[in-house]
Amino acid sequence: MEIIRTSNYMELSLKAAQMVIKVVNDNPKAVLGLATGGTPKGTYEKLIKDHKENHTDYSNIQTVNLDEYLGIDPDDANSYRTFMKQHLFNEINIQEKNTHIPNGQVDNYENECQRYDHLIQDIGGIDIQLLGIGQNGHIGFNEPGTPFSETTHIVNLTHDTRKANARFFKDIKDVPSQAITLGIKNILESRLILLLASGENKAKAMARLLNGRDISESFPASALHLHEHVVVIADEAALSLVDKQKRSAY
Ligand code: F6R
Repeated sequence: MEIIRTSNYMELSLKAAQMVIKVVNDNPKAVLGLATGGTPKGTYEKLIKDHKENHTDYSNIQTVNLDEYLGIDPDDANSYRTFMKQHLFNEINIQEKNTHIPNGQVDNYENECQRYDHLIQDIGGIDIQLLGIGQNGHIGFNEPGTPFSETTHIVNLTHDTRKANARFFKDIKDVPSQAITLGIKNILESRLILLLASGENKAKAMARLLNGRDISESFPASALHLHEHVVVIADEAALSLVDKQKRSAY
């Protein structure tokens, strides 16, 4: 695990975007694993800026998003597909058919999970997976207790996760209670993983992740210790509870 410490969110976003751009330039047919939420927004802004200024080409890039709420139409204002369109896809030259997000409104959710797993295999696997981290250590929507062996599956969101995501909705009761998510196994199969963490509210989770190497399903992000190529980009606030010597120990 490599840790890149930045002084603030802007710098974190720039560094993350530079890593994604390198993957895209090295392989114009790369598969990018993408996340939603507050953390990657700045990275997406930097990708858009770079695309406008330097014409980085996404015409043959494929994307695979981590998760989607259940029971939400892909065109709903709160769907993760809408989020991705607004924050990235509409602003770069990616083909819509190459942007993959689980469909949260299908008759058979088990089939949808299997379809998504097969799709990832068929397009050659994920080259770089962007991750945020929940305050409880979730990655994707893999909540504490999720077996590391899970592939794409349906989850019940914890009250805390729904509360954290309520800021995107009118009211917490509007936040769906279930989602479809890539499993930890899928995440660990990515060739490179980029974990982003910003702000004081992530400090406890980052301390638990980095101060020890306690690998446990009760703390999903700890699975990342099992992967050989993880880069953590975090700002000072997110690393504020990480022991000084640990920040350079990985
Ligand atoms: C989003 C996702 C989640 C978020 C996490 C952090 O696709 O899978 O794991 O990355 O909840 O969210 P933010 O970035 O909003 O703090």
